[in-house]
Amino acid sequence: MADAWNPAATRILVLGRPGSGKGTQGVRVAEQLGVPHISTGDLLRAEVEAGSSLGAVVAEHLEAGELVDDDHVGQALLRRLGEADASVGGFVLDGYPRSIAQAIALERFLAPDHFTAALELVLSEREATHRLLARFVCTDCGHSPARPRPTATEGAAARTTGVFDDSCGRCGGTLRRRSDDDVQVIRARFDEFERWTKPLLDWLDRRSLLVSVDASSAPDVVTASALDALRPRLDRFGATPLGV
Ligand code: AP5
Repeated sequence: MADAWNPAATRILVLGRPGSGKGTQGVRVAEQLGVPHISTGDLLRAEVEAGSSLGAVVAEHLEAGELVDDDHVGQALLRRLGEADASVGGFVLDGYPRSIAQAIALERFLAPDHFTAALELVLSEREATHRLLARFVCTDCGHSPARPRPTATEGAAARTTGVFDDSCGRCGGTLRRRSDDDVQVIRARFDEFERWTKPLLDWLDRRSLLVSVDASSAPDVVTASALDALRPRLDRFGATPLGV
């Protein structure tokens, strides 16, 4: 365990197929390590919701489950990394990079520093599909509660309205389905993962940057496994806060 905590050295990437829990675990790991959680999916959806010019360009890709081109996703990410809470230097980056080209661009941006580690969440397509079809996201606080697959009646109602007949357990806000959590779009997102992100996982592994954890257990169990798997790399870089 390191003697001193150096959050600037905590630069964790979170990778995994859609629905593997990148957002869920990214938030938890970032909280534990005291650095911001930055999700490129959230950043891009926020651009679409805000009706910005970037949002107008990327909306179609998000709806189709295709990767957004590198220039536009890089633009959203660089803007976020320039915000005050990111000035600490460390972060948990969820959903970026998704390809070797994006990893090289991030390496250049961070140089002479480097990523501390890349955390892969391993989950089967079948289980990830179940989770995505069961997902409802709070329109107010963004929380996405881990919950069992909806009953057939709940599922049919949600497909019609997009709204789940229950409220957010954290803030009482409205729960909605994400528009890309549709069976065919999920298939397209899995295909993008196979095509672009699988080779990136091999690339990271060859550089001894990859730690992989089984993401099929309950969220608390996965968080504990993730922190255990990351600890040796964080220690080596002096990035672990005492007690984690
Ligand atoms: P993004 O928002 O990142 O979507 P994704 O990669 O498809 O991943 P998801 O957010 O769907 O799933 P997740 O792995 O975060 O799982 P979650 O924690 O939510 O990206 C969306 C789009 O943006 C992309 O398709 C692309 O168009 C674009 N984009 C983003 N980054 C890009 C980039 N770098 N380059 C180009 N384009 C980019 O969990 C899923 C559900 O499971 C939730 O309901 C959750 O509560 C539940 N759950 C989580 N963990 C557990 C558990 N352990 N047990 C039971 N349920 C669980």
